[in-house]
Amino acid sequence: MQIFNGKTALVTGASSGIGQELSRQLAAMGCNLILVARRTERLEALAAELCRVSVCVITSDLADPLVPQQLFDEVARRGLKVDILINNAGYGYQKNLLELSLEQTLGMLEVNDRALLALTRLFAEPMAERGEGWILNISSVSAWFPIPGMATYAASKAFVQTLGRALHEELKPCGIVVTTLSPGGTRTEFSSKARGEMDPSLQRTMMAVSPVARAGLVGLAKGKAVVIPGWLYRLMTFITRCLPERWAVRLAGSVMGRHR
Ligand SMILES: NC(=O)c1ccc[n+]([C@@H]2O[C@H](COP(=O)([O-])OP(=O)(O)OC[C@H]3O[C@@H](n4cnc5c(N)ncnc54)[C@H](OP(=O)(O)O)[C@@H]3O)[C@@H](O)[C@H]2O)c1
Repeated sequence: MQIFNGKTALVTGASSGIGQELSRQLAAMGCNLILVARRTERLEALAAELCRVSVCVITSDLADPLVPQQLFDEVARRGLKVDILINNAGYGYQKNLLELSLEQTLGMLEVNDRALLALTRLFAEPMAERGEGWILNISSVSAWFPIPGMATYAASKAFVQTLGRALHEELKPCGIVVTTLSPGGTRTEFSSKARGEMDPSLQRTMMAVSPVARAGLVGLAKGKAVVIPGWLYRLMTFITRCLPERWAVRLAGSVMGRHR
């Protein structure tokens, strides 16, 4: 993908999983990187590995509502220009609402939604002034239906999807591509944090990070609005859209939210 050669991408959640793989693939395309997450040592190890391109590390906790503006200001202070914004940082709990504290529940929205929206708003402005930019927002197949047992996470990802699909049209005349990547189960640290032990049946349906990241970057380069990696997850979202909503919600709850 020549299109990203020589550009600069800011990747949130670059310390593991999909964000780390997106960073590796962008670097292989000759794209310079700004790596963002809380675990500095992980980001520095990745920066050392990707020595072919220029890489800088900015440690940030996106759960803090002040951080998106601080991150934007720090990028400007370092004289960097962000051509590609990848809003990937995120997490979820596979728990019922009443099993989570208020802090845990709202914390998910801070990172998955508030920080994503703030960074999109901040970085889209200079992109629009230049008449060129790319924004890749990471949603989830969970965005396609309500999930009892994972209600807040699914709703937070539905926000990302609705926002992204609208911004895809809204920002197109400014020369900005907005793509929403909706992965299904992907082998990262996400599931161990979300639910601890995983059912072996679900484990078998998980995708590797490499094709998921690749699908996102190909979709972004092609100017796609939404990308769902893997035929199984495309089929799953299609089938649930054909079912009566009540059935789709029950099915999603029993399969993904382990809700009885
Ligand atoms: N894996 C899946 O099955 C799956 C499926 C659909 C969608 N997704 C989405 O894909 C994205 C990436 O997740 P992943 O699967 O790669 O999981 P992961 O391996 O757990 O990575 C999550 C990343 O988000 C960062 N992060 C979390 N909280 C943060 C905070 N407060 N401030 C800054 N960074 C933070 C983490 O970095 P630090 O801990 O170092 O801060 C880490 O780099 C998420 O948005 C997730 O919702 C994942």
